Amino acid sequence: MTNTAPSPFSHKLWLAPLTFGGNLPFRRLCVEQGAEITVGEMAVVFRLLKDKGSEFALLRSHPSEPFFGAQLAERKIDAMAAGAKLAEARGARFIDLNCGCPIDAITRHGLGSSLLRKPSRLGRLVEAMRQAVSVPVTVKIRTGWHQGKENVNEVAKVCEESGAAAITIHGRTREQRYTKSADWDLIGQVAAERGIPVVGNGDILTHYEARERMQRSGVTSVMLARGALIKPWLFREIRENRAWNPTGEERIGLLHRFVELLREHFREDEKGRRRMLQFLPWHLNFFCRYRPLPEAAFGGQSLEHPLMQSRIALAEDASPLERLLADARPETHTRFATDLIEATSREDALARATTLAESLPADDGAAELTIAASQLAG
Ligand SMILES: Cc1cc2nc3c(=O)[nH]c(=O)nc-3n(C[C@H](O)[C@H](O)[C@H](O)COP(=O)(O)O)c2cc1C
Repeated sequence: MTNTAPSPFSHKLWLAPLTFGGNLPFRRLCVEQGAEITVGEMAVVFRLLKDKGSEFALLRSHPSEPFFGAQLAERKIDAMAAGAKLAEARGARFIDLNCGCPIDAITRHGLGSSLLRKPSRLGRLVEAMRQAVSVPVTVKIRTGWHQGKENVNEVAKVCEESGAAAITIHGRTREQRYTKSADWDLIGQVAAERGIPVVGNGDILTHYEARERMQRSGVTSVMLARGALIKPWLFREIRENRAWNPTGEERIGLLHRFVELLREHFREDEKGRRRMLQFLPWHLNFFCRYRPLPEAAFGGQSLEHPLMQSRIALAEDASPLERLLADARPETHTRFATDLIEATSREDALARATTLAESLPADDGAAELTIAASQLAG
């Protein structure tokens, strides 16, 4: 089956749904850096239907988001239809069904990746969503539940036949969580079989990995998750097909911009400050993993093994500012975040960061780029 009308989901750079990390200010930051499609944090439909305010917050988007989709998790057909309507009424331009979340607390209830084991139910959910709303419905899946028993071809077929407008494939099974490299050959195989856009997802940290994975799999859209959390400018790099490698000063500027967006969203009162102090250190724990990865030095290695899963030491002669930006200690993140929140301008943010950098004791743990699976929600 071939689509003749251009799909709004093909040839696009997506910011992944990210519980906690994909908050509205961070999505705005990524849009400023070139993200074309943004997806909200997973909202659980039964909580929406119980009228939980905090869950409704996950459906909120900003006018600057060019194409925002709400992501929903549910297993019951009627509830899913109702949830999709709620999300559409709150302005979602498409509704994404979560079939990838591996967390026990979610799968135990038959939600998230456990739907991969029930393709016919998944198909009925997609159909019900389609009938309930006039915006497109998309599905985010993994390659299967068990390694060696991947059923992504079957699941993707069911999604398409049930009326999904696009499918994102995170190229790992539920069982694999983040331990194995994403299987882009399998993503490519499914993309070749399907008539709707297939969005590739998994392990992209550099523009050349994006280029190579897209060429290898034939997909025209990719979704970025940890790569965007570590370097939100990755969208720009992929669009321009070249590295940016921002200086320490430029990265402080980006953090300052993020604080401006956080401040606008959470406001400047005591409660807002507390909220910012929950989010910013969490984000610094991803930001600190950034290392420049020139293609000449790392391009070959990235073909064998995703750079996301490598350990790259900070240069021995790194400046104090670079050491601060790479510092992985939670106490540093709290101090750094407090300074960034108090800064009155970009220059002030840089001055405060410089002072903090000079006062820090050496951090032996600063060199790691690997992300422990326990830190990840999705
Ligand atoms: C902190 C964090 C939160 C996540 N939250 C969600 C989520 O709410 N919904 C979802 O479908 N996937 C979620 N994921 C999975 C990502 O969307 C993505 O599929 C996965 O991280 C693989 O992409 P990557 O290799 O680029 O990180 C989350 C991932 C991370 C790291």
